Amino acid sequence: MSATFKKVVSRVLIALIAVLILIQFVPYGHSHENPPVLQEPQWHSKQTRQQFKQSCFDCHSNETVWPWYSYIAPASWLVQKDVEEGREELNFSEWGSGRDGEESEEIVEMIREEKMPLENYLLLHPEAKLTNAEREQMIQGIEATLGMASGNWEGEEHEEEEDHSH
Ligand code: HEC
Repeated sequence: MSATFKKVVSRVLIALIAVLILIQFVPYGHSHENPPVLQEPQWHSKQTRQQFKQSCFDCHSNETVWPWYSYIAPASWLVQKDVEEGREELNFSEWGSGRDGEESEEIVEMIREEKMPLENYLLLHPEAKLTNAEREQMIQGIEATLGMASGNWEGEEHEEEEDHSH
């Protein structure tokens, strides 16, 4: 390596480190808020809750576990964005608030089509990865949980029958 090349490399490295230090001062990404848990669904079983806690609660509850890299930009920006957007769509700690994601069909679809948990999250959280059997268990668990909570246990046909008998 020539002396000038070494000089260029070291300048680039210094510039990179300076940028990394500077971006730590961007205000976004520092909030690691966990607001109080207001209400959860009436979980069908402890196991169902445990499964959702393990795979979904970091972005869809007020019990987020903030990992060490969530304190360091630029990772902190990505984590905060996922949590903010996730809570906005579906928050298991603020159940019954009418969020779009609360529909059981939405939740089942996200799990069945392997859209959730998010791909980038799974890279760093292998414990949240789901096998086919676990996906099936979670789907059955959430259907039992939400079916019972909204009174249409075993689907809509039964709900109609009940309505006529009233
Ligand atoms: C790493 C964070 C993260 C995890 C973990 C995660 N989600 Fe999400 N989820 C999001 C974000 C961000 C959105 C909103 C943007 C989107 O739809 O991609 C979302 C949206 C949703 C929606 C609404 C979709 C819609 O189109 O209305 C549902 C339902 C959902 N997630 C279910 C789940 C379930 C069930 C799990 C666990 C198996 C889970 N998510 C795990 C981040 C996450």
